[in-house]
Amino acid sequence: MIFVQYPVMLSAVWSILALSAAPLPLLATSLRLSAWAELNRTVSGRLVQGVPFARACFPHVGAGVAGSFNKAQCEAVQTAYVTPEVLQTSLGAYINTQWETCQATSEQCLLNFTDPADPVAIASHGGICAQGSVPDFGVNVQSAEDVKAAFTFSRETGVPLVVKGTGHDYKGRSGGAGTLAIWTHNLGGVVHEPKFIPTGCSKKTPTRNAVTIGAGVAYEELVDFADANSLTIPAGGCITVGAAGGYPQGGGHSMFSNVHGLAADRVIEIEVVTPRGDHLIANECQNTDIFWAMRGGGGGTFGVTLKMTTLVFPATTVNAVFATIDPSVPGQLLQFFQFMTDNALSYAQQGWGYYLYPSLPGISMSNTILSEKEAQASVKTLMDLVTKNFTGTNTWEMTLEPNYKTYYPKYVTRIPVPVGFAMTISSRLMPAKNFETAAGRQAIASAMTSIMKEAPVAIAFGVAPFFHGNTNNTSVNPAWYDSLWHLAIANTWNYNQTASSLTTIYQDLSTGIEPFRKLAPTSGAYPNEADVYEPNFAESFWGSNYPRLLAIKQKYDPEHLLDCWQCVGWKGPKDPRYKCYIPIEGL
Ligand SMILES: Cc1cc2nc3c(=O)[nH]c(=O)nc-3n(C[C@H](O)[C@H](O)[C@H](O)COP(=O)(O)OP(=O)(O)OC[C@H]3O[C@@H](n4cnc5c(N)ncnc54)[C@H](O)[C@@H]3O)c2cc1C
Ligand SMILES: *[C@@H]1O[C@H](CO)[C@@H](O)[C@H](O)[C@H]1NC(C)=O
Ligand SMILES: *[C@@H]1O[C@H](CO)[C@@H](O)[C@H](O)[C@H]1NC(C)=O
Ligand SMILES: *[C@@H]1O[C@H](CO)[C@@H](O)[C@H](O)[C@H]1NC(C)=O
Ligand SMILES: *[C@@H]1O[C@H](CO)[C@@H](O)[C@H](O)[C@H]1NC(C)=O
Ligand SMILES: *[C@@H]1O[C@H](CO)[C@@H](O)[C@H](O)[C@H]1NC(C)=O
Ligand SMILES: *[C@@H]1O[C@H](CO)[C@@H](O)[C@H](O)[C@H]1NC(C)=O
Repeated sequence: MIFVQYPVMLSAVWSILALSAAPLPLLATSLRLSAWAELNRTVSGRLVQGVPFARACFPHVGAGVAGSFNKAQCEAVQTAYVTPEVLQTSLGAYINTQWETCQATSEQCLLNFTDPADPVAIASHGGICAQGSVPDFGVNVQSAEDVKAAFTFSRETGVPLVVKGTGHDYKGRSGGAGTLAIWTHNLGGVVHEPKFIPTGCSKKTPTRNAVTIGAGVAYEELVDFADANSLTIPAGGCITVGAAGGYPQGGGHSMFSNVHGLAADRVIEIEVVTPRGDHLIANECQNTDIFWAMRGGGGGTFGVTLKMTTLVFPATTVNAVFATIDPSVPGQLLQFFQFMTDNALSYAQQGWGYYLYPSLPGISMSNTILSEKEAQASVKTLMDLVTKNFTGTNTWEMTLEPNYKTYYPKYVTRIPVPVGFAMTISSRLMPAKNFETAAGRQAIASAMTSIMKEAPVAIAFGVAPFFHGNTNNTSVNPAWYDSLWHLAIANTWNYNQTASSLTTIYQDLSTGIEPFRKLAPTSGAYPNEADVYEPNFAESFWGSNYPRLLAIKQKYDPEHLLDCWQCVGWKGPKDPRYKCYIPIEGL
């Protein structure tokens, strides 16, 4: 293992505004303090300190950590420790907690997630709450001027930037040791625009049914808004994911993406501030290059979204299925996977979206384009398989949900995605081509049986925009549109890891997905839910779109003010801003 000893980042100790004993020479300290204070004046007092979420539970702190021990506050933190609705509102909290820590040095401020009151966790690292990868400060953005001020500050001081919305990112791209966060969480606002015409387009342009949302709006608000306005706005597997942040910018799949496209397919306008300081409206009529790049090229790379306009659909009923099968009956699991691979192509063509859970094992499916009768006929062989052919304890439910709001908790978040503790993923897109022959389908089913049922978390997402097709509007890997499945495996862990046990976890997960990489060597992976150490990341995440994305990155961010891990234009892991990532050999 290559272990790179990074120089101590000066900026990490700049966060001493609230500290009395400064370990720096007075001159440097006062210079830097005044720079932060000046930034705070420029952003009208909206500079906030990044404080690790569980800070109030710890008697001692590491360098630069603000706040204080407070019993009542600690109890509130313990109560909310795995509640994404609370976590996503805090600058110092990350949904997958390893991204709040410094994994390479085990500096952290974590609780035992299965028992947040467990005193052993609090005492475990000398009772010290460390800053980890929590940004030292954040600009609580309210305007384009605030974002420009953060860019200017970073350019003048060398303090690295991150953009943070909800903190859901699986690759740690919204945090970083010694950073200043451009924190978009409080950019609210949702407006329904039933006859939207993109700015700068001809008045004769056909109008679109759309909503314009602030960058801080999460799906929890949109699902209610859609319901109140008789609309459907598809959300992913967790309702607190940001609707205008990393999700649509990196792709954004949902139960409805087979038919309605990825979230990136539905974006029709973006208001953005670029690192050059331009405040632009990007759509199909103006600033088309950055518009294309920000529909799949990834968050935190080309600019900071202030607002986004996205297509919406009329309220709809939803045909939904939830089934579980008994894995203890020999051969039954393989038979189930075999059935699903055999039917994957026809299900996609009939407009089904689904999450197939090998570790449940079971499936949740939905369809908005077939009538109730057609939907029942379409899944009859599956129903017969589960309820008649299979033995042991199997379950089958099928309903016509009146609307998205009743459908979503019953069929999407019914199997919750882990939040409030550490989780990491590796994944592969499985092309439709692989499902065309009996041998191809059998290879997928047997690989699933051997790999996915072993993984603590595993999902075959039947969410590729196959039915929707490629309209050449997005910069996601074109492989998405020729695929049927996004196959993902994951691992989770608690607070008590070491750098070496984490190295093993990441490496095992990376090799765990290899059988799928071998079955689909030229497809790729979904960057928002991928191996943190994805081999050949540029090709894997963006395929033939990468060269153009890189050129657009260079145009709008020539100074690399917005770099992030395995993002377009990434210069590799050696930059000190990545010092908290576990260094893995070969990367
Ligand atoms: C519990 C859970 C469930 C998920 N379910 C799904 C799912 O069903 N489908 C799916 O496709 N994905 C899913 N994801 C993955 C999700 O797409 C990514 O985590 C995504 O990066 C989240 O974006 P965010 O803005 O909410 O998070 P953040 O961590 O705040 O940001 C993610 C990235 O976007 C950038 N960013 C955020 N806001 C802005 C902005 N205003 N301007 C520019 N850049 C910005 C950040 O810099 C970072 O690079 C899930 C993740 C979790 C944790
Ligand atoms: C920024 O200024 C505001 C208003 O003066 C103040 O309340 C806030 O604490 C300051 N932020 C920091 C990080 O010092
Ligand atoms: C977390 O707390 C639970 C319940 O007290 C305990 O069983 C478990 O061992 C703890 N986990 C770790 C990693 O210490
Ligand atoms: C279920 O059993 C019936 C009757 O034996 C058989 O015809 C059918 O092919 C089986 N279904 C599947 C999906 O194997
Ligand atoms: C997308 O581009 C491809 C290749 O240039 C072309 O064959 C296809 O027709 C285009 N699709 C649409 C919907 O424009
Ligand atoms: C998307 O592609 C279609 C077909 O190529 C085109 O008609 C439409 O205007 C595009 N939409 C956007 C927002 O680019
Ligand atoms: C963490 O604690 C759990 C429960 O006590 C234990 O089983 C596990 O081995 C520990 N992990 C490491 C890496 O020490």
